[in-house]
Amino acid sequence: MDGDYFGSIEEFTLPLRDGELVDFRPVKQNDKETLQKGMLALSSKSRYFRFFSPILKLSDTQLCDFTEIDQQNHVAWIALAHNEPEDRGLGIARFIRIQNQPEIAEFGVAVIDSYQHRGLGTILLAVLHRMASIKGIEILRGYVLADNTVMSNWLGRLGAVGVYENGVYRMDLTVSDDLFSSKCRKILTG
Ligand SMILES: CC(C)(COP(=O)(O)OP(=O)(O)OC[C@H]1O[C@@H](n2cnc3c(N)ncnc32)[C@H](O)[C@@H]1OP(=O)(O)O)[C@@H](O)C(=O)NCCC(=O)NCCS
Repeated sequence: MDGDYFGSIEEFTLPLRDGELVDFRPVKQNDKETLQKGMLALSSKSRYFRFFSPILKLSDTQLCDFTEIDQQNHVAWIALAHNEPEDRGLGIARFIRIQNQPEIAEFGVAVIDSYQHRGLGTILLAVLHRMASIKGIEILRGYVLADNTVMSNWLGRLGAVGVYENGVYRMDLTVSDDLFSSKCRKILTG
């Protein structure tokens, strides 16, 4: 990868902390089945943390909403097992710009349980952060359940500011050039 890391890149491959290679690319319209299969690889707790409800399957409407996107105001990237004949989703991250506050976007990220705590979420969030910067978004806003301490602590360590209401933290992460500079620019520049 060169200078403006992955700003114009359509897909790339990076190792996790343990060296396993993972492919990354923007979500496409025909990823519906991959997303649905990915749901089965998420524990009920992870589904609950991501969707605030332990839903087992995505509805047809959700599948359309999550895959038929403009990659401008709704940006999503998927992590796939490296070089497998059929796509196998390992993680996904997206943000959606708030209509009447276009400098803010709500984001969500999920990594299948067998790949958690291996650095995949960090790469996905770094991708989102970079894409947000490219799209002129100033704040990435995450809604995090109070018992999701992995996510709230992680965002806290990244400098996100949280407001607590009714069991949920609204956490605002400022999009700044140096947020991921020490940690992820190196990863993302390869
Ligand atoms: C939150 C989530 C996306 C993190 O993905 P991940 O691949 O495990 O992330 P990483 O391995 O890159 O770790 C990210 C940070 O969380 C920490 N972390 C991850 N798993 C952890 C665990 N089980 N215990 C403690 N810390 C943990 C890491 O140490 C790291 O922090 P650091 O960079 O300050 O050291 C993943 O746990 C997940 O999908 N959870 C369910 C869905 C969810 O909660 N989504 C967020 C709501 S939108």
